[in-house]
Amino acid sequence: MHYLEPLFNPKNIAIIGASHHEGKIGHTVVKNIVDSGYKGRIYPVNPKGGEILGNKVYKNISEIEEDVDLSIIVVPARITVDVIDEVAKKSKFIIVITSGFSEVGNIEGEKKLIENAKKYGARVLGPNVFGIYSAKPPVNATFGPSKIKRGNVAVISQSGALGIAMIGKASEENMGLSAIVSIGNKADLTEAEILSYLFNDNLTKVVFLYIEGLENGREFLEIVRNKPSNKSIIVLKAGRSKAGAKAVASHTGSLAGSDIVFDSALRQVGILRADTLEDGLNWVASVALSPPPKGKNVVIVTNGGGLGVIAADACEKYGLKLFDDMKILKKTFEDVMPEFGSYKNPVDITGQAGGKEYRMALEKAFNEPNIHSILALYCDRGDAQMEEIKKALIEVSKKYSNKPALYTIFGGEGASSIIQALKREGIPAFSDVEDAVSSLYALYKVNERKEEGKLEKIEMKEDKISEIIERARKEGRRKLLSNEAKEILKQAGIDVPEFFVARNIEEAIKLANKIGYPVAMKVLSEDIIHKTDVGGVILNIENDKEVADAYEAIIESCKRNVPKAVIKGVEITKMLEKGLETIIGATNDASFGKVVMFGLGGIYVEVMKDVSFRVAPVPKKEIRRMLREIESYPLLTGIRGEKSKDLDSLVDTIYRIGILVTKFDEIIELDINPLILYEKGAKVADARMVIEVKK
Ligand code: ACO
Repeated sequence: MHYLEPLFNPKNIAIIGASHHEGKIGHTVVKNIVDSGYKGRIYPVNPKGGEILGNKVYKNISEIEEDVDLSIIVVPARITVDVIDEVAKKSKFIIVITSGFSEVGNIEGEKKLIENAKKYGARVLGPNVFGIYSAKPPVNATFGPSKIKRGNVAVISQSGALGIAMIGKASEENMGLSAIVSIGNKADLTEAEILSYLFNDNLTKVVFLYIEGLENGREFLEIVRNKPSNKSIIVLKAGRSKAGAKAVASHTGSLAGSDIVFDSALRQVGILRADTLEDGLNWVASVALSPPPKGKNVVIVTNGGGLGVIAADACEKYGLKLFDDMKILKKTFEDVMPEFGSYKNPVDITGQAGGKEYRMALEKAFNEPNIHSILALYCDRGDAQMEEIKKALIEVSKKYSNKPALYTIFGGEGASSIIQALKREGIPAFSDVEDAVSSLYALYKVNERKEEGKLEKIEMKEDKISEIIERARKEGRRKLLSNEAKEILKQAGIDVPEFFVARNIEEAIKLANKIGYPVAMKVLSEDIIHKTDVGGVILNIENDKEVADAYEAIIESCKRNVPKAVIKGVEITKMLEKGLETIIGATNDASFGKVVMFGLGGIYVEVMKDVSFRVAPVPKKEIRRMLREIESYPLLTGIRGEKSKDLDSLVDTIYRIGILVTKFDEIIELDINPLILYEKGAKVADARMVIEVKK
């Protein structure tokens, strides 16, 4: 039994703040519980005693003779903090509907609430939630709408108002719910734990998750990685745009993690993210109502050429494969095809087709095993055929459940009435063909979980890496010098060309000769971040004289531009041959912890922000997917007859970075910029690292 079972399937419920007054939240909650047909024991609690809706009211929770699975608190915030101890003593789970905690800055109150509940081993949902509906008992312990249709969609919502609106929307769409959980401030129970329950719940087929921020990203990813194959999840996360992110921060008191990282992390574990509420709801309804497609072949059946072309364009945009075996298409549809029709997908049975022909065409598509999913489009002809079409669509889609079929009816009142009728029957129907195609895309993508691959064992000189980090830490230095960063990378098995530090001109000349010309020279100072901007870098140095001049020029220019900088010397390295400049980074994300980043250098990263992220450590198979995600990927594989760059070396370097920052938690920022990529090999030209210095 899942540990959250008493929350979703409680044997009894206490309502603290149950009100005698109709219309008050404390009354509505009791009424919804009663009206939902809950079979367990109901214990309203209110110091006034008496009776509410036929249930004896207890003056204090301690008077209840048995332990309580679920207590729901609906008294104001200050009373909540006063009663939490006595409620927690008696209860396994507590839902705190009350607002007035961290979302309005009352962080202390919220902290106290959770600490006190935890003292007695009680877990808290909320505060600042509208409650929970669970189809299993059934129980509607919310102050939202009283009638909720039972079904296979579970909703987890961080926004209360949106969650309540979802109940109404689900009912309008005729979408049944298995559970709806408001998670509010997530002070204790999180979406990850709720998800783990729903993935084990036999009523739930698809989970729709609305979140604004995610604090425990790794736990969340782990639960999704272990999702049973017969469960689906669709996420809508607000805060994608900068303005959105600001609104989120001031909304439920939640900190939105960086959106691009969130997006990449979802991709890493194969979660489908909707951009809009409309897409999210369409997708959820389609996944809930349709069988999964068994193959890639999509067929469009239409009575209108134009609508068919729009659908075909949308299929291309969403990467759906239109079935194009003309022999099979002809054989399938020849009995229903009028003279001017077209077998070429989109299969156009023309405006001549009435209800009878359309029904036949659909049945043929359902019966052809090489067709795996159907987009059925019908243009309202504004005639008496509409009733017949309605009947045909409902009967055919009820008869066949072997493949998904999504319906678009385009036109006036007649079309709307068919769509409503189809929805009432639990058939996915749309007025906009793009919505139907995007929902079909969701059906294909929602369970397309790609294996991330396994982590391989690699050698790293961990002692030497620790030594460098410890030395900097002892000196209280967060930013490592570039020679230290490079040394760490070298010890991690990454290809770093020879480098030395010179502290005077003579030494510089000696070292340059040791390396062999041409060389590059760079200032060494933790106070100078953008070395090139202050004249701290000179490249292509060919001889001893140029070394001497460069040394003097670098020191003079850096001292002039950054007078306070402590200059530790000048780093001398072999001048690297031209190659493709890439950038590899790692950082500490607020939601997901260590993440690695990859992109091409220069304008690709700075202007186009063409980068991809993954949560570290990243198996090599997943790194290859990460590379393919960037727009400039063709530059890696070679354009206009060029040979491909050495992707194995690139993958290996990113892999080592992922392992390095995971093993050495104290490395909180890392940049290899650039990593120069060749047809053979990848070499570090420059590196930066920031470590956490213990207080
Ligand atoms: N134990 C039990 N009951 C008590 C106690 C106690 N110690 N003390 C008082 N009560 C009773 C009151 O007498 C009252 O009952 P009555 O109506 O029979 O007299 C009942 O508890 C409620 O107390 P009130 O002081 O009347 O509180 P009120 O109902 O006005 O507000 C509420 C309480 C609803 C929790 C409010 O403080 C609140 O937080 N509202 C916002 C809720 C919300 O929106 N949550 C987020 C949802 S998500 C979204 O955005 C939609």
